[in-house]
Amino acid sequence: MYHAAITGTGVFTPSAVISNDELVVAFNAYADLWNAENAQHIAAGTMAAKDHSSSDFIVAASGIEQRYVLDKEGILDPARMFPSLPARADEDPGYMAEIGVDAAQKALSQAGRKAADVDLVICAASNMERAYPAIGVEIQQLLGAGGFAFDMNVACSSATFGIQTAVDMIRAGSVRSALVINPEICSAHLEWRDRDCHFIFGDVATATLIERDDALDAPHFKVLSTRCATQFSNNIRNNNGYLRRTHDQMEDRRDMQFMQNGRKVFKEVLPLVSKHIADHMAATGISATDLRRLWLHQANKTMNDYIGKKVLGRTPEAGEQPNILQDYANTSSAGSIIAFSQHSSDLSAGDKGLICSFGAGYSVGSVIVERG
Ligand code: COA
Repeated sequence: MYHAAITGTGVFTPSAVISNDELVVAFNAYADLWNAENAQHIAAGTMAAKDHSSSDFIVAASGIEQRYVLDKEGILDPARMFPSLPARADEDPGYMAEIGVDAAQKALSQAGRKAADVDLVICAASNMERAYPAIGVEIQQLLGAGGFAFDMNVACSSATFGIQTAVDMIRAGSVRSALVINPEICSAHLEWRDRDCHFIFGDVATATLIERDDALDAPHFKVLSTRCATQFSNNIRNNNGYLRRTHDQMEDRRDMQFMQNGRKVFKEVLPLVSKHIADHMAATGISATDLRRLWLHQANKTMNDYIGKKVLGRTPEAGEQPNILQDYANTSSAGSIIAFSQHSSDLSAGDKGLICSFGAGYSVGSVIVERG
């Protein structure tokens, strides 16, 4: 059996940014418009008026301060409240492929590798722009990579599940070098008119290059162990799918976008993740004192603080459990990879860390790495 190592990561960050204050101004203008349009029903008590959102609530409840998006104008237009991403011609690169390629090229360049060296591309994300051909195959072609490609979706855990898939193929010898790419255009599955969740998501793409580890000389992270788990739950759900869309397209259906019971997710996912990480560490012979860093899924600061404390058995020191959600918001599967990409180069040979994602499914994936 071969060994695998992460040799490069890349992050595509959109140029447009929306602060909480900008978001709240747009939401409140939308709520005022809606309340005016429905004033009679509200006065008659047959409809509830929409309350205003607040930046203070957003920061206190989530830790999010801003988010990057592909299209700011459409989202902040109170009469629209949805990104404007016009359909592209079949001959042109799709949105996911375009941002995925950008992230992949950064990962390749960090590792000093060419796309032709890659023989597996996995596009792992929460939503796919189309059913087929696979976005992964489009990315493979745009990059000029060899081998084969496919798409996979495990919602917020797509990146870690993709890494386990690639690592297993490298270990078995079926591929030598794999790119796991996570283009997450979360702005297009978020209901920006829903006060309970309108602040949650942002857009980004990440890429992780994983190679067979045979005497790698450049800095890298050996993949010591990976572990994935799932447990069915309806508490994070999106019913948009090919069976429903054509029939129901005239209906304004809330369940065709991201939905969650945030409080339940909070309560149920924390013990699931804490136990998953503890079991994975025990099975690998890694103790809390062995871990220099945790790169956690980026959904909620309080959740991460709780998990960090549970895993390490103490409050993490500054920098031990870096968050990026204050800048990027929740970027679904890409969050833990952004944290890893931006906060790992300072580790020394032999230092160990753990990447962990969790989300819809429920799903949880962890990857234990060691700086080589
Ligand atoms: N502005 C102001 N107030 C708001 C608001 C907003 N945008 N949204 C909700 N509120 C109010 C609610 O009306 C409620 O008021 P009430 O107590 O008077 O009824 C109060 O704030 C608390 O709402 P709640 O929805 O219970 O907030 P919360 O503290 O649970 O925080 C989340 C919401 C979503 C940030 C939090 O539940 C969470 O992060 N959950 C886990 C999410 C997660 O990991 N999901 C995975 C997705 S991939």
